[in-house]
Amino acid sequence: MKIVLLVVLVHCIFSAGALECDSVSIACANKDKCIPQRYICDNDNDCNDASDEEADLCSAWRSSECSTNQVKCTRNGNTECVPISTYCTSGDSPCEGDFDQRVCKILENGVLEKLADVILVDTIDVSNLNKSNQLAKTFLSLTPHTLRHESCPSMYTLVGDQCLSIFHIGSMSWGEAREFCGIIGGDLITFRNISHFSSVIQHLQQFELTSDFWIGGRLENATEGWIWVNDNAPMEMGSPYWATKFSSSCVERNVTAAESEKTCYHYYQAPKAQPKGLCVSLSFEQFFYMSDDDCVKNMSPLCVYHDEQQTIFR
Ligand SMILES: *[C@@H]1O[C@H](CO)[C@@H](O)[C@H](O)[C@H]1NC(C)=O
Ligand SMILES: *[C@@H]1O[C@H](CO)[C@@H](O)[C@H](O)[C@H]1NC(C)=O
Ligand SMILES: *[C@@H]1O[C@H](CO)[C@@H](O)[C@H](O)[C@H]1NC(C)=O
Ligand SMILES: *[C@@H]1O[C@H](CO)[C@@H](O)[C@H](O)[C@H]1NC(C)=O
Repeated sequence: MKIVLLVVLVHCIFSAGALECDSVSIACANKDKCIPQRYICDNDNDCNDASDEEADLCSAWRSSECSTNQVKCTRNGNTECVPISTYCTSGDSPCEGDFDQRVCKILENGVLEKLADVILVDTIDVSNLNKSNQLAKTFLSLTPHTLRHESCPSMYTLVGDQCLSIFHIGSMSWGEAREFCGIIGGDLITFRNISHFSSVIQHLQQFELTSDFWIGGRLENATEGWIWVNDNAPMEMGSPYWATKFSSSCVERNVTAAESEKTCYHYYQAPKAQPKGLCVSLSFEQFFYMSDDDCVKNMSPLCVYHDEQQTIFR
């Protein structure tokens, strides 16, 4: 009875106080004893909890082509086998190699633990988190010009006398963009006159939006041509709506009969006779002039809120 009490007492003292191991030893995971570091992964359960033979730890520990408890270390142009403890504590001229740094962290902590549970706090890279927070700030600062206005429904801002949703961070196909607009109570934007068109693209440029946008125009078929999707009205072709594009070969143009010398013209105007795509975009690259584009390309929806004047809607 006395012996049992003594054992319990000794056990309590050990568990309560921090278990200090000497520099060549390490504490078992349950902290009930220290074992020499050289016992780690020696195929012998030296800790009663087997934490010195944990599978992941041992596969990292024995990964090198060096002898037991050694690992390859490259420094000052030399590669040699050094004891793992040396590799981990090489200080001023640190070893380079592919040894798992989490093992070093375990040795530094002085307590065995599952390798998978070790977190190398120092090497967590927060730069992309910071970058995303920075992008969020820019996005928020733009919302009064893209997605928010007191005289428009939620998700819309006022441009001219219309409520528009300029969802510049979203990126989707033309079909999805149109559905997106429908879900927020609108449709892809359509342009019926030049002042409307120019006021919208000036707005995009004024707030330095660099996204590409889908609008509500598409090619119906060869006879119907390009139409506005909200009421199937034909789209006006040519300047100033449509983008001009460079061509390295000569583009055929009808010139007056008086023109004697044949000139090589290098620009054509969208949409091409054989269009690049059947959907209409305003792309940043084209300074937001209209282009025929591939309908599955990812662009942002440019929506107009459904207003009563548009009698034919969808
Ligand atoms: C990330 O942002 C925090 C807080 O804004 C800052 O203290 C830290 O230096 C930044 N880190 C990097 C890598 O930019
Ligand atoms: C141009 O179109 C916009 C939007 O449909 C409309 O509000 C405006 O009255 C039109 N302006 C002219 C001059 O037709
Ligand atoms: C073109 O589309 C119109 C309207 O959808 C349709 O009535 C017509 O038959 C189509 N023409 C051809 C050649 O497909
Ligand atoms: C040139 O004019 C003719 C006759 O008006 C027309 O059929 C043809 O499509 C035009 N070609 C171009 C490249 O505009």
